[in-house]
Amino acid sequence: MLNPFDIVIFGGGGDLSLRKLLPAMYRAYQEGNLPEGSRIIPTVRALDKPQDFIDKIQSGLKDFLAKGEYNAKDWKAFSSFIHPLVVNVTEMDDNWLVLKSLLEADDESKSRVFYLSLPPAVYGRCSELLSDNNLITDNSRVVVEKPIGYCGDSAEEINAKIAQYFAEQQIYRIDHYLGKETVQNLMALRFSNVLFENMWDAKCIDNIQISISETVGLESRAGFYEKAGALRDMVQNHLLQLLCLVAMESPHKLTANSIRAEKLKVLEALRPLVDAGVDENTVRGQYVPGDLNGKLVPGYLEELGAPNSHTETFVAIRAHIDNWRWAGVPFYLRTGKRMHKRCAEIVVEYKDVSHNVYSNNVGNIEPNRLVIRLQPEESIQLTLMSKRLDNLEMQLEPVTLDLDLSKNYENGFHSDAYKRLMLDAAAGNASLFIHRDEVRQAWAWIDPIINHWQYSGTPSLYRAGSWGPDASDELLSENGHRWFNAGEGF
Ligand code: BG6
Repeated sequence: MLNPFDIVIFGGGGDLSLRKLLPAMYRAYQEGNLPEGSRIIPTVRALDKPQDFIDKIQSGLKDFLAKGEYNAKDWKAFSSFIHPLVVNVTEMDDNWLVLKSLLEADDESKSRVFYLSLPPAVYGRCSELLSDNNLITDNSRVVVEKPIGYCGDSAEEINAKIAQYFAEQQIYRIDHYLGKETVQNLMALRFSNVLFENMWDAKCIDNIQISISETVGLESRAGFYEKAGALRDMVQNHLLQLLCLVAMESPHKLTANSIRAEKLKVLEALRPLVDAGVDENTVRGQYVPGDLNGKLVPGYLEELGAPNSHTETFVAIRAHIDNWRWAGVPFYLRTGKRMHKRCAEIVVEYKDVSHNVYSNNVGNIEPNRLVIRLQPEESIQLTLMSKRLDNLEMQLEPVTLDLDLSKNYENGFHSDAYKRLMLDAAAGNASLFIHRDEVRQAWAWIDPIINHWQYSGTPSLYRAGSWGPDASDELLSENGHRWFNAGEGF
């Protein structure tokens, strides 16, 4: 069991805090993983009555927890862990002294997590004020959200500023995809099964697809999204992190340093996309009104309320990793909003058999395929060729070994990435967080794409409720491949 800890959530009244962070802590409490003596300190800019804020947290929990998770008894107990405070994160004023006296009321060796649920532009100033008030102890960590910056230079600037006050091992850069149980299962699948690991390279694999499709649109995040777009919001972090876990060599131990070192090597080996290479290997799209599950939904421009925008809500990329293991294997990355289905999937397509001993009339021999679904359900499917048993002739057909992972748990399970990562930060376990070098390297690959897009072309349009623009299908058909679409297949 974890030792008691204090977690200060700067920006505690914001969307992320109410939707994800506080529900995550409530779940930790329900599971018995919030040690007695811990304190959750959400900070806000202004607060007339603390009780109003507590009420807001309570109604957030009711809205954002899954059905059946909220109950009045647990809320009563959980609310006693919450100590809301007013703090201005960019100005020194007396409220910082209130925070200081609250934290210092407990032993200095207690673990402190400062969660900056704030715009990246103020990470530096908030860290500086933490330092000026002597709040950063040896057992303190700071958690910062992605995307860090808008390009490599701004990320460096932000990272350098935080580094003036916190040592690298105290800085926990969060990517919530790494906290998903199924994403960690990727490593378990690869590194605890000889079956896959021995067939995990260019000799056996033809191509790999990593796809995260969402049905939501802009939601209430126009200010952020219009400046960021899908490349910065999803590819620079979530998709590249998944790519790293799929493609990296086995770390020699499961420590933060060895995992991060292997991920970094993948990012360094990514073939740069520059100038014409960007046009040839990337597709960006923007949704227009369309039919999503029988409902007409507005396009991006209508949601934004602007007549014009070149922000991409969809990205598809053909990437290559230039190393021995992956030479010649295309990695297709895809993500988009307002797509046909919500799904995150990794599809590994194996090569054809090296010599076909069957005649043409047995049916097509399709390549083996491994589909790892990360959400909404967690499953692993392996498609193999098999003889039809109801036929005296030799007839082959594809059959699928279908493993529904959630069925293994009688009471189901609520995987909550934020809970996992917040508790890891409290325990000082950084293995699922991102090192500064990874951020730097990921931007080094993304920056030339962004720069080229600024001066060349505009996003291709796609209907809301579709699988993205036609150009995305064409990107794969150039190599004789097709997207594997959730629920539909190839
Ligand atoms: C966030 C992005 O990091 O991830 C959002 O900023 C996106 O735009 C979200 O909707 C997707 O996360 P999940 O866990 O719902 O797949």
